[in-house]
Amino acid sequence: MSATFNPGLAGDEAYLNRPLRRDIREIPGDSGLPFLGHLPQVIKDVHGFQKRHIARYGQLARINLGLFPGVLVTHPDHLRQVFTDPGENFSSAMGYDGNVSAIYGGSIITQDFGHHKASRRVFQTAFKRSALEGYVDIMNPTIKENIADWARQRDFRYTVASRKILIDVGARVFFGAESAGEEIRRIAHLFHEMNHVGLMALVHWNIPGSKYWRGQRAKARMERLILDYIRARRAAPGKDLTSILAAERDENGELWPEELLLPHLNLLLFAAHDTTAGATSHLMMYLSQPENQHLQEKLRQQAFDLGIDNPSLADLDAYTDMENAVLEATRLHPAVATIMRRTTRDVRLGERDIPADTMLMNMSHWAHRSPEFWTDPETFDPDRFSEERREHKGHSFQFLPFGGGAHKCIGMHVALMNAKLILHHTLRKYRFELQPGYDCRCDVLPLPFPSKNLPLKVTAL
Ligand code: HEM
Repeated sequence: MSATFNPGLAGDEAYLNRPLRRDIREIPGDSGLPFLGHLPQVIKDVHGFQKRHIARYGQLARINLGLFPGVLVTHPDHLRQVFTDPGENFSSAMGYDGNVSAIYGGSIITQDFGHHKASRRVFQTAFKRSALEGYVDIMNPTIKENIADWARQRDFRYTVASRKILIDVGARVFFGAESAGEEIRRIAHLFHEMNHVGLMALVHWNIPGSKYWRGQRAKARMERLILDYIRARRAAPGKDLTSILAAERDENGELWPEELLLPHLNLLLFAAHDTTAGATSHLMMYLSQPENQHLQEKLRQQAFDLGIDNPSLADLDAYTDMENAVLEATRLHPAVATIMRRTTRDVRLGERDIPADTMLMNMSHWAHRSPEFWTDPETFDPDRFSEERREHKGHSFQFLPFGGGAHKCIGMHVALMNAKLILHHTLRKYRFELQPGYDCRCDVLPLPFPSKNLPLKVTAL
């Protein structure tokens, strides 16, 4: 396959035109409640639900997440088979068919196999170390500006604050947007309309005022904005991701057409924002608990010991305890609740025959908390990722907050450096405690976040 970005369909791709297989009664399991399926149980307690369902029906059982039936995939052996997928049996394009593709169709996350590989090769240039060094220079001042007034805020909610930082960071790092002001407020608004309204649409009726219509309208506006960014960055490049990608050339030495870059650039905020905000929010929930104040203090001390106000990428490499703390938060609370795939043909997965066009709901919660792979799995214990213990290395697919295989998160290092920079700046400025009476419960759907946006007591040092 030639290295074209977003090529048209080619080859034997009949699976792209077939409907979802809804009748999979031959697979053990049940359909849950009428209309809602197992959604209420998943929302109430995703870990408990998976344990009960597996105890009752075994691995690879049938489930129903409201709009569509599918198979629950949780065992690392099965996750490995789905994500490594040498036989091209598991499609992301059809896994994300529906709401995600209505907004992010044509982007790397919804492409399959050869098409995906070609896009990924081009996209990769924006995630090289030299590019990340430039992003750190943008992140440092953005984070510092955002956290300046935290101790003065009444009713401080960490999740709200971290989402604000991450929109700001995303707008500047991905597009080179101007700091603060109208430009970023507009991006934040369009992001909300696309992801928190459009993506939640139950039906695709393009009726003015409906969720679907609002999502589509915001998508069109965001795309116009991104086209303007591509043109502006080609004229005057900066250190941002659009500048890097917009300067890339195809095999004939031509700049990539802007409409081919567009869907990939549009995906970035969706992929980066709520995921990183969720990871840092869960982490801060643990670090703020009375029993983990010593861990907070240890990380703070390391941040002071570094003795640098604005760390570089190389400085961040040394923050291994911080990185382990972020990883531990994503183990306990994976930011992507379900990674979707659809079978392209009849396949044998583990010990089960799965028919073509069946949806697979790949969920990491069970593996992330299975005593088979982790000691004391319910406990927040970042040191389990240390060089001495390396608990996450038992099975190559026991820990997959960033997915695995060809579609493994391309922004993983951006997410980790962003999280470490947020820790660096906030811990040097503030002490964090839970608000009295706060019950550390976490939501999974619609998005994984601590409940009530994590109210924290913030004390200036
Ligand atoms: C804690 C933060 C993050 C988590 C937990 C996370 C998780 C994931 C997961 C699980 C996937 C795989 C999806 C699949 O296989 O269908 C993924 C893909 C992706 N992520 Fe992330 N992500 C995070 C941050 C980021 C950031 C910061 C960026 C961009 C800078 C990013 C960009 C992407 C992209 C573009 C893909 C699609 C890759 C492909 O299809 O080849 N992510 N992410």
